[in-house]
Amino acid sequence: MGQIHIVTSDITRLKVDVIVNAANTSLLGGGGVDGAIHRAAGGELLVYCRTLGGCPTGEARLTPGFNLPAQWIIHTVGPVWQDGEQEEPVLLYDCYQNSFRLAAEQGCRTIAFPAISTGVYGYPKREAAEVALHVMSNWIDGFDRITACCFSQADADLYHALCPACLFDE
Ligand code: APR
Repeated sequence: MGQIHIVTSDITRLKVDVIVNAANTSLLGGGGVDGAIHRAAGGELLVYCRTLGGCPTGEARLTPGFNLPAQWIIHTVGPVWQDGEQEEPVLLYDCYQNSFRLAAEQGCRTIAFPAISTGVYGYPKREAAEVALHVMSNWIDGFDRITACCFSQADADLYHALCPACLFDE
């Protein structure tokens, strides 16, 4: 039986089988967590991503982790928040679902997610966390450890309020 862990950390530091990147459709890097992952993984990641031909919103692509502690990276493209009526919840659900599916196919047992779409893409944090935790709970038996990697204590507190049973990692 897997566990959902909530941690406040830079996701590039986590030693897990796979970390998930909140990318854009080009897969050629950007700011936020995307920029941090490309910086930490090194230039080979961009060379590899150039061969992938981009990624539609809601879908996911697997790459090696290169210089990261994580063996793999799954790049997924979250929806840009408009007004909540443009399929944003469905597309965000697909990001988590497709990332889990790829990780399971790769045989990963530990996985860490950032809060996809809640930065530059403007998705409200609470609504996004509800989607994330819903999909994570669906996959809990398929992994040993699922980590919600928050980048602020406020974000971690939000996850904990929504998931009192989740384990808090210091
Ligand atoms: N580790 C973990 N989480 C991080 C890190 C990090 N090093 N850096 C940022 N975050 C958090 C943000 O605080 C936010 O909660 O990741 C979440 C997602 O924010 P963004 O990185 O802005 O991603 P997103 O909102 O999905 O927008 C994607 O931004 O960086 C560009 O190329 C990216 O165009 C794409 C867009």
